[in-house]
Amino acid sequence: MIRKYTFGNPFPTEAVVKEIPASQGTLPCFSMKDGSLVLTMEKDAPVYGLGEQVRGINKRGWLYTSNCTDDPHHLETTHSLYGAHNFLLIGGSEPFGIFIDYPGRLTFDIGYTQKDTLRITPEDWDLDIYVIQEEDGLLPSIVRSFRQLIGRSYIPPKWAFGYGQSRWGYKNEADVREVAAKYKEAGIPLDAIYLDIDYMERYEDFTVSEEKFPDLPALAADMKKEGIHLVPIIDAGVKIEDGYSVYEEGKAAGYFCKEEDGTDFVGAVWPGRAHFPDMLNPAARRWFGLKYKFLLDQGIDGFWNDMNEPAIFYSEKRLNKVFDEVASMKGQNLDLDKNDHLLGLVNTLANNPEDYRSFYHQPGGGLPRVRHDKVHNLYGYNMTRAAGEAFEELEPDKRILMFSRSSYIGMHRYGGIWQGDNLSWWSHLLMNVKMMPSLSMCGFLYTGADLAGFGADTTEDLVMRWLQFGIFTPLMRNHSAMGTREQEAYRFSNAKALGQIIGLRYCLLPYLYSEYMKAALNDDMLFQPLSFAYPDDALAAQVEDQILLGESLMLAPVYQQNATGRYVYLPEDMLCVTTSGPEDFRCQKMTAGHHYVPVAEEELIFFVRKGHLLPLAEAAKNVEELDASHLHVIAYPADTCCYTLYDDDGYGKDYEDPSHLSAIDVTADGGVRYEGSQERTIDICFICS
Ligand code: NOJ
Repeated sequence: MIRKYTFGNPFPTEAVVKEIPASQGTLPCFSMKDGSLVLTMEKDAPVYGLGEQVRGINKRGWLYTSNCTDDPHHLETTHSLYGAHNFLLIGGSEPFGIFIDYPGRLTFDIGYTQKDTLRITPEDWDLDIYVIQEEDGLLPSIVRSFRQLIGRSYIPPKWAFGYGQSRWGYKNEADVREVAAKYKEAGIPLDAIYLDIDYMERYEDFTVSEEKFPDLPALAADMKKEGIHLVPIIDAGVKIEDGYSVYEEGKAAGYFCKEEDGTDFVGAVWPGRAHFPDMLNPAARRWFGLKYKFLLDQGIDGFWNDMNEPAIFYSEKRLNKVFDEVASMKGQNLDLDKNDHLLGLVNTLANNPEDYRSFYHQPGGGLPRVRHDKVHNLYGYNMTRAAGEAFEELEPDKRILMFSRSSYIGMHRYGGIWQGDNLSWWSHLLMNVKMMPSLSMCGFLYTGADLAGFGADTTEDLVMRWLQFGIFTPLMRNHSAMGTREQEAYRFSNAKALGQIIGLRYCLLPYLYSEYMKAALNDDMLFQPLSFAYPDDALAAQVEDQILLGESLMLAPVYQQNATGRYVYLPEDMLCVTTSGPEDFRCQKMTAGHHYVPVAEEELIFFVRKGHLLPLAEAAKNVEELDASHLHVIAYPADTCCYTLYDDDGYGKDYEDPSHLSAIDVTADGGVRYEGSQERTIDICFICS
């Protein structure tokens, strides 16, 4: 059951797709104190949710702020990342979910100030709160109910489940061709190469540099012949430059965010001075969205939306003030305080809260203009919505790849997210693991982190271990920053072994795609914490470095340098699969409990749950060439096990067509039965009896 409580005059975020009448009663469970919602949490009861955030799967013990922030150096002590996902699942004897539909800055003190107290504090009380309770009291049921409330998750084209290579540093066509050639030469599969800001003319959205990419359509077509899709970046800021059509049109139509006095707000990003399209204004949103056509027409079928918190390097006004103040300090003796002040002036130029309070949106539909900070967390959402709505208009029958850096719940209907700028740190690999179930709860199914790390120099073993986890994440993209060690898989002395790991992704694809589609179509989670499937197992609730993927698999990645194995907790008997590549699946039955499992550097392990099976394809050089008509199965039947396989052409939108579903049954004595309208042969790779 979902109850809605409205306070003040909420901004219509359109996060929710179901009409729920506002309840007249008082909000259950919580009390109101000093402008906060306060709840005494049961001792040791877990709190889940918050999507893209730091720390554990269980969020207890820290202070989190929903305030979309560009923070490429985030640490355990960070409070905000790139997304704002205000959904919590509060465990205990009567678990419930709570969604605070509020687009401004919101803090969640989950036992940070007082160990057993949850305190939720918005900056003002114009918001809707949804409380979700389910009769069966099960956490997955509460999540499903929430997901039905917010609408179906975005479904990408199937090729977007292939491996992608990216680097902020591919400067021209030759660089792109070299990456494709080197992957081919090394025999490593590849489905996408990403174009970062250098493909543009002077960092102008919806332009292509004639000098660096003289014939993008030809390049895109050549790449497609190799099964590779080019995926360009689009930035939020529009360069101010006379003669640049996007700027000229936006200015003439009044589509940019405005200062209080009605002039266009000036902030700076890559191209220097820029305006920010008013993504909350439906007309501006449609205008911006339709601009993607410029690239769609050149053979492009995927995009990533960046810098859409929006990140602002400086505002024109603030920069001028800082210059004046710095000039006035010249010649002075800078003691500790003055020196701090000087550094503070420069260091707070970027993403300054005062700047976010200085410009406005005009949401249309009779709504008054709204100051940006009140709706800050909706910007990236609406930039991606602009694209998603335009794709529906321009290419109604085709799936286009779209993922964004910044997001709010609701955006999950229009695109996926990558998990922002991380670092080549082992701790960020672990953070990637922990974030997956939290994002699933909030509807962000198409997601993944920058594999091998974006900032800082990576190491060969980190690339290996991160890819070993990345083969399980829907977005599997290796991305790195300018100036860092180059980290394409073919560059390392263990390239062959890395290629084998990437090859495994393609073997897993029938399962991964099937589980993705079922999760999206049934509003289920793709990744779950162990406690969701084993609610009566107190030890399972403690596990933060193993997660469930779909109905059959438990993942237990290695995330520590120099480790040649790891401890694993099994809530029930499972089949441990050790593999170093498509030709190597070693299976061993393990009993419930604690185990130490050796995992050499070029190997990974995962577990097949009892009563379940894993369909596997042969390796392929890209998704297009994957042959799903012949599958091998690793099965651990209780007496029998049945799997519902979802498969389709991966491009169309007839998701619900029953012909996409087929059934694979395996009995304990090795009997296999397949039923489905798609031609398919199945053989047993391993059966555990
Ligand atoms: C910031 C993004 O997070 C990163 O992925 C990208 O490479 C840079 N912007 C440059 O576009």
